[in-house]
Amino acid sequence: MRVGVLTGGGDCPGLNAVIRAVVRRGIQEYGLEFVGFRDGWRGPLDADTVPLDVPAVRGILPRGGTILGSSRTNPFKETGPGRSGVERIKDNLSGLGVDALIVIGGEDTLGVAARLQEEGIPVIGVPKTIDNDLGATDYTFGFDTAVNIAMEAIDRLHTTAESHHRALIVEVMGRHAGWIALHAGLAGGANVILIPERPFEIDKVCAYVEHRFQTRYAPIVVVAEGAHPVHDELSLTSGTLDAFGHVRLGGVGQFLATEIEKRTGKEARCTVLGHVQRGGTPTAFDRVLATRFGLCAVQAVHNEQFGMMVALRGTQIGLVPIAEATRELKLVPPDRYAEAEVFFG
Ligand code: F6P
Repeated sequence: MRVGVLTGGGDCPGLNAVIRAVVRRGIQEYGLEFVGFRDGWRGPLDADTVPLDVPAVRGILPRGGTILGSSRTNPFKETGPGRSGVERIKDNLSGLGVDALIVIGGEDTLGVAARLQEEGIPVIGVPKTIDNDLGATDYTFGFDTAVNIAMEAIDRLHTTAESHHRALIVEVMGRHAGWIALHAGLAGGANVILIPERPFEIDKVCAYVEHRFQTRYAPIVVVAEGAHPVHDELSLTSGTLDAFGHVRLGGVGQFLATEIEKRTGKEARCTVLGHVQRGGTPTAFDRVLATRFGLCAVQAVHNEQFGMMVALRGTQIGLVPIAEATRELKLVPPDRYAEAEVFFG
C-alpha cells in the first residue's frame, strides 16, 4: 500500500514526531510505502510531493514545526478550470498511486478529512493543536509545550511586575477554548485568567486588579486571545478571514492594559506570546504522545480501519470516528473555574 501523509493548519510541536513514528513503523513492520504532501491540503491539490522514507525522518524527533510544511488551504473552497478541489485530489492520488492518507491536523484539516472519507478517499486522522480543543481526545500534542512556554513567561513576568508595581497582562493563544490560559495561568500562579468561554466584565477585572495592588503584589493577568468582554465579541479582531472563515484574533491584551491604566491609575503592560508558543522543540510529554499517535495511526492504516482518528482516552490510545472528533469543540467546563483560586472576570 502507498500512503500519503500531510500536516495542515497551524503547526505545533510534535508534528515531526508523528511523521517519524508513522514512517519508521510503517516501512519496517508493515512494508508500506510513503509519500509526503507539502503544505497541508495544497499538496494533494497540486500533486506537490516529497519523498518520505526512513532517512528522510532521521533526526526529526526533537524538531518543532513540520518537515512537510503546512497551510490553511481548504479544498472545498478551491475550484480549478472545470474541476472541483475534491476531483483534483482524487485524480492526483490515483495518478501518484496513493491508496490512503494519514492526515495530521486540527478541527479544520480533520473536517476536510471527514468529508473526503465520505467521498471515498480512505483517511486516518491524527489530532493536533496547541489549543487542545478537539473533542474525542483528552489531549492533543503541542498543548503541553505551549503551556510550558507560557508558564515560563509568566514566572519571569512576576518578578518584573513586582519590581515596578505594575499590572502585567499576558495574551496567550486560544481561539475558542481557554485551555492554554487556564493551565499556564494556574501553573504560573496568575491572579486573573480570562478565557473565551466566560466573557468578562471589565469593571470587575479592574476592581479586582486594584484590590490586588492594595493587598498584595502587582497582579498578573493571563488572557486567551479569544476572550472578550460581555456583549462585545467582535471588536478585538483584525477583520481578515482565512480559508475556513476564521477571523484573525489579537488585541485583547492591549485592550486590558489600556483599560486597567485608565480605570485604576496603575501602570499596566501587555506581553503577547503569539507564535512563540507554537515554535521550537516539543516537551517529553508531547514527543511521547505524538509518537504513540503515529504508531496507532499507521497500525489503523495497516488494518484498513479508515474514517477513524487516533485519540487519547485516559492513558489509552484508541480510535474514534473522525466525524465525531470534529463535531464539537472541547471547551473549558464551568466547574473548572470553581476549583481554582483565581479571579475569572
Ligand atoms: O489553532 C491554533 C492557533 O494557534 C490559534 O490559537 C490561533 O488563533 C491560530 O492558530 C493562529 O493562526 P495563524 O498562525 O494562522 O495566525
